[in-house]
Parts: sequence; C-alpha cells; structure tokens
Amino acid sequence: MIEPHGGKLINRIVSEQEKKRLKDKIFVMKSIKLNRRQVSDLEMIAIGAFSPLEGFMGKNDYENVLHNMRLSNNLVWPIPITLAVDKDQVKRFEIGEDISLLDEFGKVVGILHLKEVYSYDKELEAEKIYRTKDEKHPGVKAVYSQGDTLLGGEVTLLEKPKHIEFNKYYLTPQETRNIFKERGWKTVVGFQTRNPIHRAHEYIQKCALEIYDGLFLHPIVGETKSDDIPAEIRMRCYEVLIENYYPKERVVLSINPAYMRYAGPREAIFHAIVRKNYGCTHFIVGRDHAGVGNYYGPYDAQKIFLEFKPEELGIIPLFFENAFYCKKCSSMATLKTCPHSKEEWIFLSGTKVREMLQGEEIPPLEFTRPEVAKILIEGIKQKRVDYNI
Ligand code: ADX
Repeated sequence: MIEPHGGKLINRIVSEQEKKRLKDKIFVMKSIKLNRRQVSDLEMIAIGAFSPLEGFMGKNDYENVLHNMRLSNNLVWPIPITLAVDKDQVKRFEIGEDISLLDEFGKVVGILHLKEVYSYDKELEAEKIYRTKDEKHPGVKAVYSQGDTLLGGEVTLLEKPKHIEFNKYYLTPQETRNIFKERGWKTVVGFQTRNPIHRAHEYIQKCALEIYDGLFLHPIVGETKSDDIPAEIRMRCYEVLIENYYPKERVVLSINPAYMRYAGPREAIFHAIVRKNYGCTHFIVGRDHAGVGNYYGPYDAQKIFLEFKPEELGIIPLFFENAFYCKKCSSMATLKTCPHSKEEWIFLSGTKVREMLQGEEIPPLEFTRPEVAKILIEGIKQKRVDYNI
C-alpha cells in the first residue's frame, strides 16, 4: 500500500471519550464562525485527506508553499490551507488558547489550538497560486473576499461529518485504503472531477483501467462554481454509468468533500497528493485539469509535474491528451491514436455539455451516454423549478 504524503495518515477526530471531556470546556471557549469552505478544510485535515497537515498553516509553511510549492520541511505542497478571519476578530484571541470552531449554523464542529496570527498579501497569493490577479477568477475572488488575517494551529474535529445526502459514498482515506487492500488492488488510479461524466472522461478512465487494478472515482462535492452542475446530479450520473457500463468490482465511487479552487496546475499536484492519501498509486491528469476560463494552457497542469522528482510526489500522474469522438474511427480517440482530420472530430468538454443543457438541448450520443443525458436534463429542469433559475 502506498504511504500517505509525509509517511503518516493524520487523524484529528476526537474519540467519544475525549469528546465528553471537551464538552464543558467548549462552551467557555471563544469562538469563530467558519464558512463552508473553512469547514471543508477542517474536515479534510481531520480525516487525513490533507496529510501531513494537522491544522491550518502557520506563516513559515504558508510562505514556503507560495514561493516554493513546499512545506517548511521541504515536502511538496502547492496550495495554502489557511484560516482567514477579520483583523477585528483576532484582537480577542491569545496565542496558545483553544478556540471553538462553529459551522454556518452555529454548531461547534471543532477546535483550533491557536499557535500563530499573521498577515498576508492577497495579491501575491493570487499571483503565485492562481497565476492571475484577476478578481473574475473564482479562486482569486475567494481570496480577495476572505479575511485579512490568518490563524495557524492544529485542529481537532469533534465528529466525522455525515454527508447524509451522499450516504454510502462518504469514505475517509483510512476506509478507502482498507477497501483497496480487501480487493487486493496493488495499483489504483484516482480520478478527480467536478463535471458530469462525459464520454471523454469515460474513455480516459477506461484506458487506465486497461492497465491498472482498480479505479477510484472521486468527484468533488464541496463548493464549485454556481454554473457547475450540482453534486447530487453528478453522483446520479456516476451511479447509472457504473451500473450499465463499468465492471463494478473494479471501481470505487466516493465523494470528495473538498471545494474546487480552480488553481489549474498547482491544484493538479494538490489533487494528486490528496488521492495518494486516499491510497491511489496513480492519478489521471487530462486536458486543462482544474482549469477555468483561459487562465491556463491546456497542458500546464501536466507540465508542472516535471518540476518535481517522481519520488517526491510518490503518486504517478497519468497524462491524457484532449479526447474526442472521431466519426471515422467510430470511437473515442486523441491526437495520439487517430490519424483523421479535425472535420471528423467531435470535441467533448464539460463546459460544452453544460452549455447545451442550459439551452435545453439534448447532448448527442458522442458527448454523453443516453442514461446520463436523461439524468442531466431532468436535473437541470428540476433545478430551474427548485431554485427558480
Ligand atoms: S476538473 O476541474 O475536475 O479537472 P473535469 O471534471 O471536467 O474538471 O475533469 C476531470 C478530469 O478529466 C481532469 O483530469 C481533466 O483534465 C480530464 N478531462 C476532462 N475533459 C477531457 C477531455 N476532453 N480530454 C482529456 N481529458 C479531459
């Protein structure tokens, strides 16, 4: 079994006994209300998905990540995991104290063991992490709109979130590792996604499945852009596809409670490290991985892997070129496998599918399986009714 990043799978969830002991203390602690993204980071740290992180980053790690894509101990780490709050809020806190962390409904979900308070340069973060200062970029926008002070320190999570809406699909890194072991998989390919599954996704997943033992489908269900398809609908698409077109015993479907940052190249490295923690040995990086708009070149997210020695990452990236349907080949293909000209190709992308669905147009077979198209169209219609958009 592949080692977690940094060698140890972190678990920052308290035992039932410890929880009882903490209960009285929690109510006299000062508190901070977290937004959904911050709760998601807290959860990802606590369940070990962000191993070796045990909390929100301190200044040393933060600056190293920004400038060198490494933690202060030199371990590769490309994305800051920080807790931003307003300056005024911080005045009440003392270094060394425990602060209770509340979710958006005011429920105590965890504790921050406050170690550091520091300021940071938002524009510098935008430029380094997202390669742009443009506030239209969703990741940059999130940085600009968050607090101006960062709190660092280890965290404790009071209980594993239930994610009731996704029920059996919630697995922690320890649980997926156990499953991979039980199934006897020596090699496991991780697949990150935030879009409804289309034929290009299926193609690259199955190319990988031709060679490796198992496929770990790990769609992001945390916050995504408002025009991305909601996670419940995407999960239903996966269910129907696995049911009809995949060898079930060779696939594990599970939700990833993280949120999308749209940081393109840096996020590709981050996504790979997270899947390594879940027990994957390989990770698919296709065209414009975790990209948005035209901020990144189509293969920047692959090129960035060359900046690191393979043993520093541990997990092996599998690079795929832009996949499309070729009418002459009558199959999915890429430039590497198809000799025909552009006129024969139907390019597939999540963005394109989304546009068609928004226009209530049924995507053709070459775009998406009919079972999936049906769910998407129903979902979109329902969303219009439910959310009045
Ligand atoms: S992402 O933001 O999570 O990367 P998406 O869900 O569309 O978006 O992509 C999931 C994975 O499939 C990424 O590795 C991406 O690069 C890859 N991918 C998506 N569409 C294609 C395509 N047409 N050809 C090759 N790879 C693709």
